[in-house]
Amino acid sequence: MTDKPPSPDMSPEEFREWGHRFVDWVADYLAHPERYPVLSQVKPGDIRRQLPPAPPLKPEPMEAMLGDLDNIIVPGITHWNHPAFFAYFAVTGSGPGILGELLSAGFNVNGMLWRTSPAFTELEEHVLDWLRQMLGLPPDFKGIVYDTASTSTFHALAAAREAITGYDVSEQGIAGPDAPRLRMYTSSQAHSSVDKAAMAIGLGRRGIVKIPVDREFRMDPVALEAAIKTDLADGWKPFCVSATIGTTSTTSIDPVAEIAEICRRYGLWLHVDAAYAGAAAILPEMRWILEGCENADSFVMNPHKWLFTPVDFSAFYCRRPDVLKRAFSLTPEYLKTAEGDSVTNFMDYGIQLGRRFRSLKFWMVVRYFGVEGLQARIREHIRLGKLFASWVAADSRFEVAAPAPFSVVCFRLKADDAANQKLMDRVNASGKIFISHTRLNDRLTLRFAIGNLRTTEDHVRMAWDLIGEFRGQTPNS
Ligand SMILES: Cc1ncc(COP(=O)(O)O)c(C=O)c1O
Repeated sequence: MTDKPPSPDMSPEEFREWGHRFVDWVADYLAHPERYPVLSQVKPGDIRRQLPPAPPLKPEPMEAMLGDLDNIIVPGITHWNHPAFFAYFAVTGSGPGILGELLSAGFNVNGMLWRTSPAFTELEEHVLDWLRQMLGLPPDFKGIVYDTASTSTFHALAAAREAITGYDVSEQGIAGPDAPRLRMYTSSQAHSSVDKAAMAIGLGRRGIVKIPVDREFRMDPVALEAAIKTDLADGWKPFCVSATIGTTSTTSIDPVAEIAEICRRYGLWLHVDAAYAGAAAILPEMRWILEGCENADSFVMNPHKWLFTPVDFSAFYCRRPDVLKRAFSLTPEYLKTAEGDSVTNFMDYGIQLGRRFRSLKFWMVVRYFGVEGLQARIREHIRLGKLFASWVAADSRFEVAAPAPFSVVCFRLKADDAANQKLMDRVNASGKIFISHTRLNDRLTLRFAIGNLRTTEDHVRMAWDLIGEFRGQTPNS
């Protein structure tokens, strides 16, 4: 009798066994993230030093990998799924979202064309229409999933440039003698991804004008219009404004309705970056934050920030999908299909050809929690944010540094930058919580961001007590 040849892949039996072990591992991890320091305490190089310099020549047992996961990888993880993660924008990879990721890895489909998986394309179109309804955006906003808001904004700017009448950039390029000197506008508080997108499409730093903000860190529409007029007089070609709902530092809200009116008057493309705060618009009482967005040409929000969907998932909407398609559509012979224009081929709407099946996890998140469940969780985060802000405001040693309309609070010790830096370093080194910082009015400012599903009022209270305790140990304050 001959031996059975080894299975070319992990056998179904082995996959089942290890699948159960790994799901158990993740379930235990999610049940007790607090046993780990939230901010990884390793030093640069610590992880690589423990890894073999060359790949294994022979198969290794799964058991060894599970062991290394615990011993080498976990100590080098900063735990974004930890309830005391209060840095940057706190996020959640929720249970249904994680299982959705597992399914998309299982299918391993590549959604470049409708026929390369019809369910991929149609589910993506469908769940983005659900999200559009949840946000109260009009039906002519057509959605597509990209990896990140940075990529979404890159596509927005490329479409905005494509929309310029008489400037066929996809054919002529950007370097011809007749190429206009393009200018776009965003606020001094906009995310750096806007600058990066401008650099990537060939505008250069000189092609982007930073508009000043008011005392509440919102773009000043009067200054915007003045900048456009000056540029027109100087021979520039204004073509786009990027407004932000929920800026990265303070979560300020640009006056989109007024900005949209200026864009209409001067024929400019309006892009709205609501990467983090857009999620709050699923609450009826917060819907006002999107006022004016119905007049935007493009809009981005990230379910991977505050809609409990594992990284990565950025929802991009465009009211002129024909223009986006013109900017990116190019079909080599081998990708031509009989369905033609009767279907959506997502490869036509972006720089990527191959695409991951991301909509599956978002579909599962929305169905598992239901819209009302999502609303209740976001509402609770906003409540906790306001509670934290009230504790800061009531403590004479601290000050709230900006309005906090969502679940992020900017605050500082009434002391110099060094004291604030020391306070942040100490609380983070404790491993109990993780907070981050920004610079406002040229002063180091601490940021406290709530966004994890496991965060309760007790965690927020513990964090505030810890900050108070370490403040007492901060000399020079
Ligand atoms: C307002 C805003 N826009 C864009 C981004 C970039 O997001 P992503 O990491 O998805 O590219 C961020 C990141 O925090 C952000 O706060």
